[in-house]
Amino acid sequence: MTYGKSQAGSIQATPMEQLIIWLREDLIGEFEAINQYQLHIDNIDNEEIKTLLSHIRDEEKEHVAEITHALARIDAIQREKFMEDHTVAPEERVVQPVDDSTATTVGNLFGKK
Ligand SMILES: [Fe+2]
Repeated sequence: MTYGKSQAGSIQATPMEQLIIWLREDLIGEFEAINQYQLHIDNIDNEEIKTLLSHIRDEEKEHVAEITHALARIDAIQREKFMEDHTVAPEERVVQPVDDSTATTVGNLFGKK
């Protein structure tokens, strides 16, 4: 496994590290999609298309939430940082404590969409 997008001069990553890297890249893509849809929504006059693109933009926001939660399940440090976030009350945090014995691993993610 290689680290990041480039093969040249890359650092070897474990399968779990590579999975986390790809999820982070996927998250970046989702944010870029949201911004692009919003830009188009703000710059077109056709109400039907605005409504369609707004719906798609909101689906991309759902994908951000899904990927964020997946990262929190498989990246222990990321999960810890979500749970330590002092800017919000514990009950309002994106991630709640989980029982590590049921945490997702690379192995039990195979075959799931
Ligand atoms: Fe998406």
